[in-house]
Amino acid sequence: MAKIAPSILSADFSNLTIALNQCQQAGADLIHIDVMDGHFVPNLTIGPVVVKDIRRNTDISLDVHLMIESPKQYISEFVKAGSDWITVHVEACKDVKQVLSRIRSFGKKAGISLRPGTSLSSIEPFLNDVDLVLLMSVEPGFCGQSFLPESVNRIQNVKKLIGSRPVEISVDGGIKLSNAKRVIEAGVDILVVGSGIFLTDDPVISMKKFKSIKG
Ligand code: DX5
Ligand code: ZN
Repeated sequence: MAKIAPSILSADFSNLTIALNQCQQAGADLIHIDVMDGHFVPNLTIGPVVVKDIRRNTDISLDVHLMIESPKQYISEFVKAGSDWITVHVEACKDVKQVLSRIRSFGKKAGISLRPGTSLSSIEPFLNDVDLVLLMSVEPGFCGQSFLPESVNRIQNVKKLIGSRPVEISVDGGIKLSNAKRVIEAGVDILVVGSGIFLTDDPVISMKKFKSIKG
């Protein structure tokens, strides 16, 4: 069974406590937090100030997905705010190894992500430096988009590239109950789900359903 990482981007930002309590109640494994800067992606979301308040209100590990240019200069801020996992985009880093080792130097889990159109070979040199590969299955920037079907192949291929390394794979974008089994069977360890949870009638039940899917 895969882990579930609810993406609060689809939750009500004026009352995140509701979403955090739902995550707690459903036994969510991680809370996925999408940080966007209006440059790397055409959307603006939240920064370390909000991560800090989320940290004060939950014990669940925080999976922070940085969709920002030059992430290196913000790593320590996100660490201080209480992030447990920090993922950066390969396209956004000038020196990817340096950024990943900075994350790990704080004792945090380091992740690498890539846009759907970026070749998997771009992350291959860094597979010994990460704990997570976060595969985007939509163009990063917005929740509620449709899953790109070619992502299933990419998951299988990234799994082969990882081989026996202790690196988890998460998939992010357009994951619904209808396609979750397919991506788990392809090799995903963690499902990042936004609208498939928080825009449903009962987010707790939806999370539990995702958690019970067998690959
Ligand atoms: C998109 C974000 C995702 C998003 C997923 O750039 O990285 O985490 O919140 O939302 P859904 O599940 O609605 O595609
Ligand atoms: Zn994300």
